[in-house]
Amino acid sequence: MLVEKNVPLQPCNTFHIVAKAFSLVRVTQVTDLLEVLGDAHLRAQPKFILGGGSNIVLTGDVKPLVLKVEIMGKRLLEENPRGFIVEAGAGENWHELVAWTVQQGYPGLENMALIPGTVGASPVQNIGAYGVEFQDRFHSLDAIDLQTGQELRLDAAQCGFGYRDSVFKHASSGGFGLKDRVMIIRVRFFLPKAWKPVLGYAELDRKMAEQGVTHPTAAWIFDAVCAIRRHKLPDPAVLGNAGSFFKNPTVTPEQCADIIQREPRIVHYRLDDGAVKLAAGWLIEACGWKGKSVGNAGVYERQALVLVNRGQATGGEVMTLAGAIQTSVYERFGIKLEPEPVVVG
Ligand code: EPU
Repeated sequence: MLVEKNVPLQPCNTFHIVAKAFSLVRVTQVTDLLEVLGDAHLRAQPKFILGGGSNIVLTGDVKPLVLKVEIMGKRLLEENPRGFIVEAGAGENWHELVAWTVQQGYPGLENMALIPGTVGASPVQNIGAYGVEFQDRFHSLDAIDLQTGQELRLDAAQCGFGYRDSVFKHASSGGFGLKDRVMIIRVRFFLPKAWKPVLGYAELDRKMAEQGVTHPTAAWIFDAVCAIRRHKLPDPAVLGNAGSFFKNPTVTPEQCADIIQREPRIVHYRLDDGAVKLAAGWLIEACGWKGKSVGNAGVYERQALVLVNRGQATGGEVMTLAGAIQTSVYERFGIKLEPEPVVVG
């Protein structure tokens, strides 16, 4: 176990924001973490767990000890009459895992192709796209308690999944949250053999019609989702970003009816529980932000929900832009947009 000092974090966050970690340990196996916890000085330090850095905004140098998760490996753990249980190390790249499962004939993750980040980060914000959420395919995960070094196994109920939310996003005050209390080391997925394509998303349906596809395979959906995402979302390798910057807000049917009276074209979806989800991208575009910039931070031209780094943006510039967007959306619609990424520094 090596404690690296003053490590540049620009290559470790998809916004490409310049910042450094005062101390960083690469956790390639569980014993690396146990060595950190076995050292009285390191064990007492506040810690920040870094995965693929695809859902963070660095607003300064990181003082807590950074534990960079690099635990690799993916395998078929079990095949039973109902399906496949696949296990992956927390440091694996999410998209590569999805591609591998589809190639191996274990379908189910294909709608979530090309989401940036690591496997270990995927439960934290319960990633999702094109009608499928992480929790729909989740089996269980293993994590290490950062106080005791004990290994825990958590099932879906214990992870407390919600829309872009889980127990890992909440502080432990009150006893519920596991934020900063555990490191996720491996994740298992249950991929049923009774596979059915998840369709019904307008862009996927349009692609099927264009290509005359009536019975899409998992591989076809994988390719279609990749094509759709490449068309409308910026590639973080080319233009720094953290995917959707805000969550899609939920309102009551009464609030929605009130907004529709003023804004008849507002994009909204009724949820099973009666609430109504609004498209944050539409709200931001309606306020005139699409394609605009504040300093080096900007709003992506093709999807207003994505903030981008147009050059050497600082985390402060990104948060200033985010704040200005929140203010205009609140002033016009009375809706508070909640950021998705974690602000660090
Ligand atoms: N829209 C606009 N203007 C925009 C962007 C969107 O009017 O600038 C409208 C679209 O026309 C559409 C609606 O908003 O009617 C929804 O847009 P889209 O299908 O692009 O999805 P989204 O709600 O903006 C969510 C996820 C994405 C995920 C897509 C596809 C959240 C916060 N974001 O975006 O996730 O890829 O659905 O399932 O839920 C991410 O989390 O990083 C991410 C990219």
